[in-house]
Amino acid sequence: MDAKAWEKVDDLIDKNQNKTIKEYFAEDPDRAAKFSLEAAGWFLDYSKNRIDREMMKALIKLAEKSDLKAEIEKMFTGKKINATEGRAVLHTALRNMDSKAKIKVDGKDVMPGVRKVLAAMGDFSDTIRNGKWKGFTGKRIKYVVNIGIGGSDLGPVMANLALTPYTKRNMKFFFVSNVDSTHLAETLREVKADQTLFIVASKTFTTQETMSNAEAAKAWLVEKLGSKKAVAKHFVAVSTAAKEVADFGIDVKNMFGFWDWVGGRYSLPSAIGLSLMIAIGRNNYKKLLKGYYKMDRHFRTARFERNMPVILALLGILYHNGYGAESYCVLPYDQYLSRFPAYLQQMDMESNGKCVDKNGEAVTYTTGPIEWGEPGTNGQHSFYQLIHQGTHLIPCDFIGCSKTHNPVGDLHDKLMANLFAQTEALAFGKTAEECAKEGVEKKLIPFKTFEGNKPTNTLLTDQLTPETLGALVALYEHKVFVQGVIWNVYSYDQWGVQLGKVLAKGVLSDLTAKKPSMKHDASTNQLIARYRKAVGR
Ligand code: F6P
Repeated sequence: MDAKAWEKVDDLIDKNQNKTIKEYFAEDPDRAAKFSLEAAGWFLDYSKNRIDREMMKALIKLAEKSDLKAEIEKMFTGKKINATEGRAVLHTALRNMDSKAKIKVDGKDVMPGVRKVLAAMGDFSDTIRNGKWKGFTGKRIKYVVNIGIGGSDLGPVMANLALTPYTKRNMKFFFVSNVDSTHLAETLREVKADQTLFIVASKTFTTQETMSNAEAAKAWLVEKLGSKKAVAKHFVAVSTAAKEVADFGIDVKNMFGFWDWVGGRYSLPSAIGLSLMIAIGRNNYKKLLKGYYKMDRHFRTARFERNMPVILALLGILYHNGYGAESYCVLPYDQYLSRFPAYLQQMDMESNGKCVDKNGEAVTYTTGPIEWGEPGTNGQHSFYQLIHQGTHLIPCDFIGCSKTHNPVGDLHDKLMANLFAQTEALAFGKTAEECAKEGVEKKLIPFKTFEGNKPTNTLLTDQLTPETLGALVALYEHKVFVQGVIWNVYSYDQWGVQLGKVLAKGVLSDLTAKKPSMKHDASTNQLIARYRKAVGR
């Protein structure tokens, strides 16, 4: 992070430390309009933040000093910005709608390959949806089970739920991720083998959880349908690893490929979205990509002062590094977006949860906020108390849709009233004087006072559609990118997940071996011994 540019931000925080959001609003009647903008179907009101023009200028300087413009171009043009893995980062190519664009990696245009896979996915999903694809016994597919984890699961799960109104209601979609056998077993209870398509989704096709679940599902299917030949009609793969797919027993002509320049947590618009395409159809899937593309274009071309992902990223950095806010909350006021916070957790925390900079040196500032959230209004009756009156500063993004897909009486008005009211309460609070005026008993006043001055962003769209969902996902992807650039960390590797994976292999062998090595620390050995005893080994 550029120290000099950050110093200016820090000075302004000091200078304005006693100024509240309420005072900012009192000073400037145009504030709401000034600190709002629209992009790709989304309206962002960020006026309820501890900012003024001077602060925004200083934050934008911070972005400029990080060479953000050049970094954005590097990403969009396929430079190998994922340096620790020697890879380009090109999820934007997956939704690039500029038919003339050539995007080259190692001198080769990736766009023909992208279009080819998309067309193959479209043709395949058509045959599933229209019943032309028949299972081993001649029946059409009614159930789709996506087996994957992390980026090969969270995106499809989130988007399938988010786009429920667009899904084929006479089909059922399931997502198995956890290596906990309960996840698979409970899913298999819901489906019929002769009408089920399993999509094994794994970039590497080596991930323990996915491969174990896929093998178990294959054994179940073969047992139910009485022939190994059934696998060809009930299993397809989404992967970058053709050999491993073939070794598993899936015909590679039923494999939908993608490329090493698509990071797992950015892979929803790749073939990883196959289950979603089957659910919503290729045309709606195209609209989703269009939404992504609109936000991509906005991000690439808008000046930073009017650039939604840049603004969200800078505000995040302001609170995280300037005010010590360790976490931030994403609060979708839309039941269909209830898995959106979980999806963002991987996108953000696996990307920027890094403690060394691009030179391999320990960073001298904190990175990667802890991200969490629940759909409104459920959160209000759970953890909002802490946000309103607790001792932690937790900036929040509120996300809402003006129109519901399911109008029922005045429920939607009530939902949105709650969203707007929460941002109002968080920003403006309630003083002791206001409590006294309302007749609150003197001794209760400290408990009923709200400090306010809690920062929030509000994102509004007319309706949650494939297009606005695509734009929303791209918005957060680019926000995470900008923060990674400013923190000078590599956002597209995830070495931190390796150690546990490797150790789990050794532990597994000690859980199951006749003679375990027990070469672990005393605590781990004790846990292994206790487990072995309980299961009779
Ligand atoms: O958790 C680590 C990780 O590598 C993620 O980045 C990725 O999304 C997930 O595992 C699944 O990987 P794969 O798609 O190769 O099975």
